[in-house]
Amino acid sequence: MDTVLSGIRSTGNLHLGNYFGAVKNFIKMQEENNCYFFIADYHSLTTYPTPEDLHNSVKSVLAEYLATGLDPNKSAIYVQSDIREIPELYLLLNMNAYVGELERTTSFKDKVRTQPNNVNAGLLTYPVLMAADILIHRSHKVPVGKDQEQNLEMARKFAKRFNHMYKVDYFPEPQPYNFGEDLVKVPGLDGSGKMGKTAGNGIYLIDDDKTIRKKVMRAVTDSGPTKPDSEVAEPIQNLFTLMSLVSETSTVDFFKEKYASCEIRYGDMKKQLAEDIIKFVTPIREKIIEIRNNNKYLRDVAELGAEKARQSASKTLKDVREIIGFRKF
Ligand code: TRP
Repeated sequence: MDTVLSGIRSTGNLHLGNYFGAVKNFIKMQEENNCYFFIADYHSLTTYPTPEDLHNSVKSVLAEYLATGLDPNKSAIYVQSDIREIPELYLLLNMNAYVGELERTTSFKDKVRTQPNNVNAGLLTYPVLMAADILIHRSHKVPVGKDQEQNLEMARKFAKRFNHMYKVDYFPEPQPYNFGEDLVKVPGLDGSGKMGKTAGNGIYLIDDDKTIRKKVMRAVTDSGPTKPDSEVAEPIQNLFTLMSLVSETSTVDFFKEKYASCEIRYGDMKKQLAEDIIKFVTPIREKIIEIRNNNKYLRDVAELGAEKARQSASKTLKDVREIIGFRKF
């Protein structure tokens, strides 16, 4: 069985794109693999959150993933900063990471360009910490989006370098976990492209009814079909795609027919879409809030996850220390 590790950013709430994309796949993934899911709170310090913000965002992220179906009995779900072995492995890996190669990563170069007044060493060594996250469980696979591919490549490089340096075959080279066909792309509400956090075109699982209605009513459309059976333009196709995820088939068919006969009224379609999104999201939102307010449950989950993660992490570190030559007299 493969060991699969997923790192979750500690900031940012889940939107429908995450829900139908990554989260759905995580739930399937945890049935078939030995999965570790963790919230990357050390990494978030590169941007200096206040202590309250740090704590609250970790709590929200954990509540959202539990509400959407990550199962603490099937996987190890933990908070990065609960595992002290990670920073120790990070220190050791840093000795074999070259400043030059770290400076050349795209994400670091972007930071240097966009925030020249805060180029901290944590940013430079971000890929090393990420490699420590991955290698601490000797993970075989890591699900990553496009923006994290280079970081995963660095993790492979550090794994290979360690193995080579100490003439061992200790760390597997972590490969991307490929969802293949299963990766549903959810469009945003701004006419083109995917739903995403930075694009600001998303509907969040914790959005209230009013917010959802407002966002959907503002979605980009066009001036409408002029000939029967004309091709559906992208912004409208996107609304149909969203509808097919949350509405009854008969509803989708109804509006498709209206479109084909040029009788569609986008206002009506959006109203229906908003109500169906609300119907879909409400039970999830309620569950998130319930879990978010249940400190005892969250604490139990985090403790159980940390115990599982520590078991694997301490074994790795024991081996690594031995390999490097930190030995008892
Ligand atoms: N850098 C990842 C992100 O921004 C989060 C992350 C941290 C991660 N450590 C990881 C992802 C290890 C995968 C594996 O999304």
